[in-house]
Amino acid sequence: MAQFPSGFVWGAATASYQIEGAVQEGGRGASIWDTFAHTPGRVKGGDTGDVACDHYHRFREDVALMRDLGLNAYRFSIAWPRLQPDGRGRVNEPGLAFYDRLVDELLAADIQPWATLFHWDLPQALEDAGGWLSRDTAHRFEEYAFLVGERLGDRVTGFMTLNETYIHFLLGYALGLHAPGRTLGLHAFPAAHHQLLGHGLAVRALREAGVRSVGIANNFAPVWPAGERDADLDAANRVDALHNHLFTDPLLRGEYPALALDIIQSTDPALLDVILPGDLAVMAAPLDFLGVNYYQPDYVKDNPASPTFGIELGTIPDREYTAFGWPVVPEGLTQTLTGLKARYGETCPPLYVTESGCSVNDMPDRDGRVRDDFRIRYHEAYIDAVHSAITQGAEVRGYFAWSLLDNFEWAEGYSQRFGLVHVDFETQVRTPKDSYRWFQDFLRDHTDSD
Ligand code: FCB
Repeated sequence: MAQFPSGFVWGAATASYQIEGAVQEGGRGASIWDTFAHTPGRVKGGDTGDVACDHYHRFREDVALMRDLGLNAYRFSIAWPRLQPDGRGRVNEPGLAFYDRLVDELLAADIQPWATLFHWDLPQALEDAGGWLSRDTAHRFEEYAFLVGERLGDRVTGFMTLNETYIHFLLGYALGLHAPGRTLGLHAFPAAHHQLLGHGLAVRALREAGVRSVGIANNFAPVWPAGERDADLDAANRVDALHNHLFTDPLLRGEYPALALDIIQSTDPALLDVILPGDLAVMAAPLDFLGVNYYQPDYVKDNPASPTFGIELGTIPDREYTAFGWPVVPEGLTQTLTGLKARYGETCPPLYVTESGCSVNDMPDRDGRVRDDFRIRYHEAYIDAVHSAITQGAEVRGYFAWSLLDNFEWAEGYSQRFGLVHVDFETQVRTPKDSYRWFQDFLRDHTDSD
């Protein structure tokens, strides 16, 4: 049996808008995802997060599921519009009280709380003022981070500032497939810059509030050229610069990658004017850990006609595919984890896999059991891949399965199920799947028993 370092963190992850529901309770303000999901045509089937998994009311039941599963950590996100309905000003106490109760419930179950400050549900009021395209949003985020740090910092094990800055930039601002639905292409660069600035300001604010451990959960993908042509190799380098380096070099090297800057500058030189003196130093605030969300490599072809930065993303052939159509590529995770060490060397903080999982649209059989063997094999392979990275010298300290529950999968609505626990969205009945039982057995053998 593969041995993991002592104290290895085994968790599951979720995000506020994907599970909480109760969008009008406890004084919560509207978020960009409420607006987006309620706009016809944006989300498959017209689904919204209005109710989602009703976790807001059922969190005790959900924590009990985590405890029985044997997790020693849980990654959740805090809905900014619950704490600051308008994205600014004094804390909304009922909103905070929900996370207070959640954190206390987790601690009572011996589960470390890991909190993400921003998992895409920006207060709508801030979007009305420009969203992440506006520099002010980074300062609002700093203020919000301080307030969370002050109130929850004594009990939260690890804070992640933002979730997947690249995906939010790409799908939310460049391609318009996610909230806020803007289609700016690379003209969306300010949304990247201000998220990274917001990250740096939030790290500082959290530390001022006395928080011990701070990181970020970024999305990473090794980039695989789909052909041997020089043009495909060039395209792969461009994607690597935009997907991976643009969002992590500033944090760990204090600079933007030259290739990404070239690409943005050739789109419009004025875009770089948002970078003010001192910004990169703020972004490079030292981190205690780096969260790695990994699903699959980018498989890249050059295509000058493509509206997406002259590149075309293809599907890796001859693989197993999830219900989403994503290929199963565990070795890409090993490559990502070891690659981070190779690129950032000594400045690479300890790594945590903060998301890893697959959608399989498995439903309960007649006997009520959910036989999701595909998911079991998936996690086995991805956990093995983490182990290989560790044996090759990467300092990986944890693995969070995405996700604890089937939930609202953004533009896909409820059509993609990622959970270890099945959720019947009509009745809110939770049914642990076979993968939950498998993970339970696995954790019995792999967690420290002190
Ligand atoms: C990631 C998101 C997460 C979930 C998974 C499937 O990009 O961070 O919320 O949607 O993908």
